[in-house]
Amino acid sequence: MKRTVKDLINLEGKVVLLRVDFNVPLDDGGKILDTTRIKQSLPTIKYLIKQKAKVVLISHLGRPQGFEIRKSLWPIALILINALPTSVHFINKVYGEDVKKRIDEIGNGEVLLLENVRFYKEEVECDMEFAKKIASLGDYFVNDAFGVAHRKHATTYGLARLMPNAIGMLMEKEVQALSEAVENPKHPFVFVIGGAKVEGKINLILKLLDSADSIIIGGAMAYTFLVASGVAVGESKVYDESVAYARDILNIAKERGKKIILPVDHVCIHANAKRKKVVVASEIVDDMVGYDIGPKTIELFKEEIQHAQQILWNGPLGKYEEAKFAKGTIEIAKAIANSNAYSIVGGGDSVSAIKMAKVEKKINLISTGGGATLKFIEQGSLPCIDVIQDRIEI
Ligand code: 3PG
Repeated sequence: MKRTVKDLINLEGKVVLLRVDFNVPLDDGGKILDTTRIKQSLPTIKYLIKQKAKVVLISHLGRPQGFEIRKSLWPIALILINALPTSVHFINKVYGEDVKKRIDEIGNGEVLLLENVRFYKEEVECDMEFAKKIASLGDYFVNDAFGVAHRKHATTYGLARLMPNAIGMLMEKEVQALSEAVENPKHPFVFVIGGAKVEGKINLILKLLDSADSIIIGGAMAYTFLVASGVAVGESKVYDESVAYARDILNIAKERGKKIILPVDHVCIHANAKRKKVVVASEIVDDMVGYDIGPKTIELFKEEIQHAQQILWNGPLGKYEEAKFAKGTIEIAKAIANSNAYSIVGGGDSVSAIKMAKVEKKINLISTGGGATLKFIEQGSLPCIDVIQDRIEI
């Protein structure tokens, strides 16, 4: 059990460096499209405000190459001003005398948001000299950035090695819920996986073959599995290098008596046709390319979902960002939300789909992690959690 923010006592006037994941989706003009991650970070921030700590927020946004105005955290400060019951300040740096001075100036229970830490290349390099400069600003380090806990960066991992530390309330909630779901699942446990690439998800599927009763595979990755099971997929995207792994997974599932459910029909277009008309087909032949699951597949997947007691969903079931290929993903999102199962949804795209279907309130846990959620399920922990001090049990 890791030390949590609630184990830190006498925080009045203490400077707490709180690593959050404000890596929110932006449109081309830099407008924030979704504030879920900011909202999910509020409980820990509010808790620290109540303890009268000086709360210094650290986050990344995107993967900038040096300074990029579009990826400044300044607009997030404006959101926090409305969301928090205290004064929120912003500084366009992450360390140095100016930052120290600002921290001295702010009152107890107030918040200072630092600039995007990835404007400094030292962050992703986990440069410990850079980490030391930031660590010198505070008394404690609290990591609440579950979404980036799989990355050993200066402010996710380095700071924990340099300062007395704890995990935040969001991190605690995600860790508990995901651990419970994988180690002690309610059965039948249905794992729904989609998205494009198979690579990077092989170990995850293998791991879940232990605890899940059935695995539903949709999205572009389904075509690689269909090829592995001897079904034609026309010109749909197949990851050739992953076909052998997919075949292994299908064989292992068979040996263990676990179901892997693949699409039985598809929403396609003819790649070579002049007018790209959308067609539904049971077989993808010639120049056809599949972009979504078809109506029979939706029914097949729904049937499995209806009987589940626990569902874990990661990755869209089609090219849902285009309205003509969104139906499969939206229908499955609704089926998961309306089922009686305990539901967990992780990964940016699945979370967007849940919102598109307007069913987010019916999902038990919306994980803020994408890659982090998958890695956590696969490995049972993450490096930036492991590095946090254990709780002293009395
Ligand atoms: C995420 O969005 O998954 C996290 O914020 C991590 O971002 P990254 O993949 O750019 O490290």
